[in-house]
Amino acid sequence: MRTTCKSRSAEQTKEIGIKLSSFIDKGDIILLSGELGGGKTTFISGIAQGLNSKQPVSSPSFTLINIYDCKKNKKPVSIVHCDLYRINEISDIAGIGLEDYIYNENYVVLIEWAGKLKEGILKDFLEIKFEYLIDEKQDSDFGNSENQHRKIIFDSRSGYWDRKINLLKNNLKNCI
Ligand SMILES: Nc1ncnc2c1ncn2[C@@H]1O[C@H](COP(=O)(O)OP(=O)(O)O)[C@@H](O)[C@H]1O
Ligand SMILES: [Mg+2]
Repeated sequence: MRTTCKSRSAEQTKEIGIKLSSFIDKGDIILLSGELGGGKTTFISGIAQGLNSKQPVSSPSFTLINIYDCKKNKKPVSIVHCDLYRINEISDIAGIGLEDYIYNENYVVLIEWAGKLKEGILKDFLEIKFEYLIDEKQDSDFGNSENQHRKIIFDSRSGYWDRKINLLKNNLKNCI
């Protein structure tokens, strides 16, 4: 199932992440893709905020993995935030221990630039893509970094994620 929504600002992208967080559970895996500056990290900061993260979200481009201690319904849950932007070879991923998190039901795993890994994940996941949206009003701004419009595309491929995204949809009436 494909669900698309439009974000008009970084704040709104974060807000959508916060809303999705209320439907996220331990064991969930979300792959985020799309151009640099598309809003993947911003969206993840919304998820972390929604799950009451004790640490601020930062881009794990160098460390590859950040872990945030969070709480959902007063129960502890950890977010594993991974960024594979700098990974060139799938074999390089083996050393970072990501698989241990993916197949451990105690974590919420959020992976930026997961394209390189996607085929190898033998578990259900949600995919979210971020695209720059150039609409008529903003045509003159093409290439301008101040263009704030983004298209956020949710691709769910299981009843499990379809249900969650339908719940999210009901909360996103203003941007669908
Ligand atoms: N609608 C929007 N959604 C997300 N980010 C936006 C939006 N409009 C402008 N921005 C800006 O674009 C940048 C997105 O950066 P980031 O979230 O790190 O992207 P990515 O992780 O996809 O590379 C930030 O500087 C943010 O302020
Ligand atoms: Mg990022």
